[in-house]
Amino acid sequence: MDAFKIQGGVRLRGEVQVSGSKNASLPIMAAALLSSGNSVLQGVPDLADVRAFTQVLERMGVRTKRAGDVLELDASSIAQYEAPHELVRTMRASILVLGPLVARFGSAKVLLPGGCAIGARPIDQHLKGLNRLGAKIELEHDYVLASAPGGLRGTDVVFDMPTVTGTENLLLAATLARGTTVLRNCAREPEVIDLVAALCAMGADIEGAGTHEITVRGCTELRPYIHRVIADRIECGTFLIAGALAGDPLTVVGGVGVVEHQMALIGKLRAVGVEVDIDGDRITVARPSTIGAVDVQTAPYPGFPTDMQAQFMVLLALGKGTSLVTETIFENRLMHVAELNHLGANIRVEGDSAIVNGIPQLSGSTVTATDLRASACLVLAGLVADGETVVRRIDHLDRGYEHLEVKLRAMGARITRFTEIQARTSVRHPRNRQRLGNPALKPQVSLKVGPYSTQAM
Ligand code: EPU
Repeated sequence: MDAFKIQGGVRLRGEVQVSGSKNASLPIMAAALLSSGNSVLQGVPDLADVRAFTQVLERMGVRTKRAGDVLELDASSIAQYEAPHELVRTMRASILVLGPLVARFGSAKVLLPGGCAIGARPIDQHLKGLNRLGAKIELEHDYVLASAPGGLRGTDVVFDMPTVTGTENLLLAATLARGTTVLRNCAREPEVIDLVAALCAMGADIEGAGTHEITVRGCTELRPYIHRVIADRIECGTFLIAGALAGDPLTVVGGVGVVEHQMALIGKLRAVGVEVDIDGDRITVARPSTIGAVDVQTAPYPGFPTDMQAQFMVLLALGKGTSLVTETIFENRLMHVAELNHLGANIRVEGDSAIVNGIPQLSGSTVTATDLRASACLVLAGLVADGETVVRRIDHLDRGYEHLEVKLRAMGARITRFTEIQARTSVRHPRNRQRLGNPALKPQVSLKVGPYSTQAM
């Protein structure tokens, strides 16, 4: 497993370019399944999740070609309507193939995504919606089988909660259903709007993206798309927090929607005393003389993103005063608290909330990433902690941040990637703490590091 070694206390300056959005790319890649011919997706980030999803599609028979940030996908001849087991296990977003496959071919078989570190993450809303569209849904062992030999038919679907990939899956399916589908209580995230833009480029007839009610008039056939994906708002937000922690100053340069999608975060940055200067698609931030305290509650877009909660907590950990951070989307997304406390932070978890008592300085140590956004949080903490911080298990980070250490180094950060050899058991991993407390369960820890490398994932 790879890890980062970070020398803290270095100020960051200059400009950083935001990559294309991971969570917009994945559903738009799935949209390529809806037509024959060559779809062209531009601005696709080079990430582990994108590579895994490309493989999922390839194994079904989709021909793919990647050149720089352009990914071509041709689903003219699909060999199997089944997502391969071992690949789906590695990424929950694979469920996004269910809607397009059953809509175009009348049949789909996908491994049930299990829970993951941040929560149970059920898919009942996806299945209920597809069933409303006329698909027969069966669960067989660990698989979801969806079939609609006569095709899907338009109907009304009301989501119990706004679900991002649930809305996307139903949008993908409804484009090829007979008649009109009205989706209510939809997610309004920018990634949903971007998917709709790509579907409209394919000839779909969709109204209401970005609102809670989306109407899809189904058509019999779609053509391939040419589409540029929006900028990654979570990567952008992560760099804005890096700027607020260590910027001297730091300018984040984005693509489509980069400023508009940051308004909730920018509001909170200003509330803790960070000056945010917006000029077109460039956002400049610097570390203020004092960081303040503010309460934050995650919410669906346009509220404060759950995907930014961990990173923003680093700022609050260094704020003057006490802040309350409440996670309302996922039930287990405060695992980074224990790791931040290991760096000296004073944070207490109570139910879904973290009570953050700001301290003047974090101190470097070895910490372990537990999920994608938690790993970004620990990297940010390492950038400002005293001395050296090692962030282990950055395979999580590689799923969603394109060349993060390369970008940070270009701004002045002292961060290197290295491979941990024979690190069979993480001493610092929360799961292993209990074992370590019990001599009978004590693992044999063999932790050697090296050789150093600066590979960019
Ligand atoms: N939910 C259900 N049933 C469903 C679907 C969702 O109960 O059928 C619940 C979830 O358990 C959760 C809430 O609804 O409590 C919202 O979940 P949502 O479905 O919106 O999440 P998702 O689509 O699985 C996407 C992103 C996540 C991001 C969330 C929330 C992708 C591939 N993933 O997940 O991104 O946190 O929306 O904005 O788009 C990340 O990038 O690190 C990440 C986890």
